Amino acid sequence: MCGIIGYIGDKKASDFLIEGLKRLEYRGYDSCGIATANEDKLSLRRVSGRVGLLEEAIEKKPVKGIVGIAHTRWATHGIPSEDNAHPHTDCKGEIVLVHNGIIENYTELKEKLLASGHKFKSETDTEVVIHLIEDKIKSFKAEMKNGEYETVFFKAFKKAIADIEGSFALAVLWSKCPDMLLSARLHSPLVIGLGKKENFVASDVSAFLKFTKKVVFLEDGEIALVRKNSVEYFNFAGKEIKKKSTDIKWDSSMAEKGGYKHFMLKEIHEQAESVENTIRGRLLPLEKDILKKEIGLSFKDIKSLDHVQIVACGTAYHAGLVAKYIFENFEIPTYVDFASEFSDRSKIIDKNTFLIAISQSGETADTLCAVREAKESGAKVLAITNTVGSSLTREADYVLYTHCGPEIGVASTKAFLGQLSAIYVLAIHIAVILKKISLKEAGKYVKELIKIPRFIEKLLSREDEMKRIADKYSTYEHFLFISRYVNFPIALEGALKIKEIAYVHAEGYAAGEMKHGPIAIIEKNMPVICIATNSKVIKLLAGNIEEAMARGAKIIAIVDEESKKHIKASEIIEVPKTLDMLSPLLNTIPLQIFAYYIALNKKCDIDKPRNLAKSVTVR
Ligand code: F6R
Repeated sequence: MCGIIGYIGDKKASDFLIEGLKRLEYRGYDSCGIATANEDKLSLRRVSGRVGLLEEAIEKKPVKGIVGIAHTRWATHGIPSEDNAHPHTDCKGEIVLVHNGIIENYTELKEKLLASGHKFKSETDTEVVIHLIEDKIKSFKAEMKNGEYETVFFKAFKKAIADIEGSFALAVLWSKCPDMLLSARLHSPLVIGLGKKENFVASDVSAFLKFTKKVVFLEDGEIALVRKNSVEYFNFAGKEIKKKSTDIKWDSSMAEKGGYKHFMLKEIHEQAESVENTIRGRLLPLEKDILKKEIGLSFKDIKSLDHVQIVACGTAYHAGLVAKYIFENFEIPTYVDFASEFSDRSKIIDKNTFLIAISQSGETADTLCAVREAKESGAKVLAITNTVGSSLTREADYVLYTHCGPEIGVASTKAFLGQLSAIYVLAIHIAVILKKISLKEAGKYVKELIKIPRFIEKLLSREDEMKRIADKYSTYEHFLFISRYVNFPIALEGALKIKEIAYVHAEGYAAGEMKHGPIAIIEKNMPVICIATNSKVIKLLAGNIEEAMARGAKIIAIVDEESKKHIKASEIIEVPKTLDMLSPLLNTIPLQIFAYYIALNKKCDIDKPRNLAKSVTVR
C-alpha cells in the first residue's frame, strides 16, 4: 500500500523524508520519490525500486529545502516505473503532489484537462489531481496578480478536491508558497504529527514516530493546512474546525501494524476497505460499460463465452469455488480446478473457454502454468489479482485488480474478500450483458453489495465475542467446519485458516456429505463449526447439525437474525443479514478471527507460519 510522508520545519527536509520512507517500507512498494522546495524552486527525485536507490540519487544530486513531501508507491494504475512514481508535478513543475487511494473519475477528468492543454507524463490516476489544482489556480487571475499565492493555493485545492470522485489522502506543495503544505483525506488514512518548530503529514504514524508522538488523525472530508509552527483544519466546504491531538503510546513495530499485534489481525480489520475499494466505481451505473473501459472486456468477448473455467490455489481456489455458485446462480456454466490439478488432468478447453485465474500475488507457479496451458488451447484469460505488474497480469488477456493493498501476513485474509468482491463485480456485469438477469435484478445485488463494508465494520466491532469463543476452544486438537451451498467453500476456508496458522487439524466438509462417511469421526465434545445463514438450505443444515449434536459434537454456529431460530448450538455468532449469494463476504470474518485467536493462544508465529511462503513460485 502506498505511503505518504510530508515535512515542514526548520531542518533539512530530505533527512526526515527519507527516514519516513524507510519507516513506510513495511507496507510494500515498488517505487518511491521525494520533492522539496527551496527559495521557490522545487527539487524532485524518483526511482523505480527501493528507498536505498533514492538515497543514492539524493547523495549524487542533493535536494535542498526545509519543506517537502515523499511517497512509496505500490502500483495500481500504471506499471511500477520512475515516471509513474510520486510526487507528480503540474505542467510547469511548480506544484507537486503525493496521493494514496484511487481517483475513480480520472478518465473523464483527464480528457477535459488534455483538451484544455495539460500535458501528462505518467499513466497514473493521481496525475489528474495535480493538473486539476493547476487548472483551478489559473482561475484566480486577480488574486494571482496581487501575489496572494497562499489564499489562491488553498481555494484552488478546495475546488480541485470537490471535483474528484474516489478515495484519497493527499499532500501538496507549491513552490510559490513554501511556508505551507496542504493535505486532505477521503476514505484513505492521513495523520498529522505535531513537533517543535516542525510538523508532519503521513499516511500512518510510523513514518514520523521517531520525531513526535503527538498526533491528530484527519477524518474523511477534512483538510489540514500545515505550517512550521501551526496546523489549521477545515472541512471540504472550507469552514475551519477544531481538532484534538492524541499522544501515541505505540513503539515503531506496533505502529507499522497500526497498533495490532500482528499484520494478520490488521489485515482482517482492513477488509471493509478491501471490499469498498474493489467494488468502488465498478458497479454504478450498471448500464455503463465499465468492464470494457477499465479492462478491455467487450460485449463481443463476453457474448462469445461458452463456459467459465476457474483456476487458483489455496485460499484463492476457495474464492473460485464461491464464484461457481455465483456464476451458476446466473446460469453461466462454471468449472473450478486447483491450478495444479488442472495442469495434471486432460481437459476440454477451446477458444470459447473463458478462463479466470485468481491469485493474490500473481506469481503462483501452478496458476501461471494453468494459464499458459489454457492459452495454448485458445482460451481467453482474465486474471483477478492484487499485484500490478505481476507475471499473471502480463500473461492474461484481461486483468481485474482487487484493490486491497499489499497483504503482508502469509495467511490470506483481506485478499480473499477482495477476490470475492471482484468476482461479484464480474459476475453481475456478465450476467447483465448475457441477459441472464435484468438490470432491476442486478440492481438488487448492487444495492446490497454496497452495504457490505458497513456490515463488515459492524461485525469486526464485535471481535471480543469471537475471541472469547476461540479462547474457550483453543486447546482442542480437531475441528470440523461444515456448511452447504455458497458457504461450503467458506467452511473449507475456515478449516484452511486454522490449519495454516494454528497448526491444528481441521476438516472442511459439505454438510450433506457428513452422513456418507465423515460423521464417523465425531465423538463427544468435538467442536463443529457450522455456517448456517443461508435461508435456501437452512432446514437441511439444521438437520445436519442435529445429527452432529446427537453424536456429542459441540456446535459453534454462525447465524443471522433470520436463520437463528432454526439452529441449536453451544455457541452462536450472529452476522448481519444479507442476500444468500453475498453471505460469504461476512461469514468468512468470524472464522478468520477464530483461527487468529486460537493461534495466538498457542503462541504460533502468526504472520509467518512454519513451512509456508507468501508467494509459491515453484510447482
Ligand atoms: C492461504 C494462502 C494460500 C494462497 C495460495 C495462492 O492463506 O495464502 O493458500 O492463497 O498460495 O496464492 P496466490 O493467491 O498468491 O496465488
